[in-house]
Amino acid sequence: MKRLLAVLCLGSMGLPAQVTYSKEISRLFMAKCQSCHREGDIGPFALDSYEAAKSWSADIQRVVRDKIMPPWKPVEGHGSFQNNFGLSDDERRMILDWYKAEAPEGDKADLPEASAPTGEWHLGEPDAIIQMPELYNVPRRKDVYRCFVVPTGYDEDLWLKSIQVVPGNRQVVHHVIVYLDASGKSTELDAKDEEPGYDCYGGPGDGIPITLDSLAGGWVPGTRASMLSPGVAIRIPKKTKIIIQMHYFPAGKQHSDQTKIGFYFAKPEDKITKRMFFLPLVNDRFRIPPGNKDFEVTASVPVLPGMTGDIHMVVPHMHLIGKRIQVTRSNVFSRINDSLVLIDDWDFNWQGFFAYEKPVRLNVLDQLKLSCRFDNSADNPRNPSNPLKEVRWGEGTEDEMCLAFLGLTFDNENIINSIRFNKPKR
Ligand code: HEC
Repeated sequence: MKRLLAVLCLGSMGLPAQVTYSKEISRLFMAKCQSCHREGDIGPFALDSYEAAKSWSADIQRVVRDKIMPPWKPVEGHGSFQNNFGLSDDERRMILDWYKAEAPEGDKADLPEASAPTGEWHLGEPDAIIQMPELYNVPRRKDVYRCFVVPTGYDEDLWLKSIQVVPGNRQVVHHVIVYLDASGKSTELDAKDEEPGYDCYGGPGDGIPITLDSLAGGWVPGTRASMLSPGVAIRIPKKTKIIIQMHYFPAGKQHSDQTKIGFYFAKPEDKITKRMFFLPLVNDRFRIPPGNKDFEVTASVPVLPGMTGDIHMVVPHMHLIGKRIQVTRSNVFSRINDSLVLIDDWDFNWQGFFAYEKPVRLNVLDQLKLSCRFDNSADNPRNPSNPLKEVRWGEGTEDEMCLAFLGLTFDNENIINSIRFNKPKR
């Protein structure tokens, strides 16, 4: 990184700075592109050699210039997140300059060492592995949103430090969300559908309540599994059913998938004192008029005494006609006014679980606010409704959501005594 900076400084002083593939661009592509653009992953080509970079260079300059790639959505300066694979403005400029200079290769001796393979499990062997109950044949030529139910049968609460989703087939798996269902409704939905699993689009399925225990994590391309902060874990209530919600890409040929998930449980030496809740910051009572191009829906929650703590993660969520989503924290007394996350070109296809590099403090009388903006006009190419209609909260493709899960821990909680560390029985 030091070398990158040196080159940038020279550039801005007007001295010639030749950006080459071997020196700078290969390192950038390794850090920001190869998590998807490598053999067998979801990127349509591997971006791991000069030949590949050169032959794709015109497309690369277009998608980098137009900010289509890499598909990292949070806007810089609104929250700092782990595993950020977005390009900074300087990095973007460097790629564009390289293209303008006709994509020089430079000296092969400057190439970095190829990144070491990580193996299937980034954090080592998990404590338990659950898997879609059977191989699913993914229908061709359409997006498929499907929930698969895995009963855990765990007869006591378990405490999760991390999960890692391993997509069974990276060419068709687009994203995975892992929901927890204590209501048992998912089994009914599964039983009603003849194929494996049941259809579910923007949530765990019709009638399954969203609670503080609804979410366990997820996967989008580029995600790397990491452990929660020291002392923090997520509770999986006993007898919970795990719902694996899959989004599959349209694929030209026949593909099948059986995605699996590794659970990493807290150990006695982890000294868990805090439970991470997924607080849904949500407005489910809106009506977006047909034709309205910029309709705002908001929700807000005050931090009352006793609710102070830390935010570890944010998971913004809307459906197709959402265009902008933001979470802010403000306080009229201390005059804080922070933007915790902003996505200003929402794309349902590129959602994320964004973990803060440093937890965000929540002080008493802070106001947490969610703002969602929707374009329900005919000019919106993503609008699935034709003719236009009033849009409300719901699970379907033509319904909407205005929701952000906040992964929170509270100061006044000390749960150490309620934790048991037995190995899960199934
Ligand atoms: C998180 C996964 C991911 C990352 C990271 C990523 N890509 Fe992509 N890229 C894709 C996928 C998937 C496609 C296929 C098109 C689509 O679905 O958007 C794609 C398509 C492309 C295309 C072809 C676009 C077209 O219109 O034909 C180019 C060029 C590209 N990516 C370049 C890059 C570069 C350069 C980077 C890094 C700076 C990058 N990508 C990072 C997933 C990724």
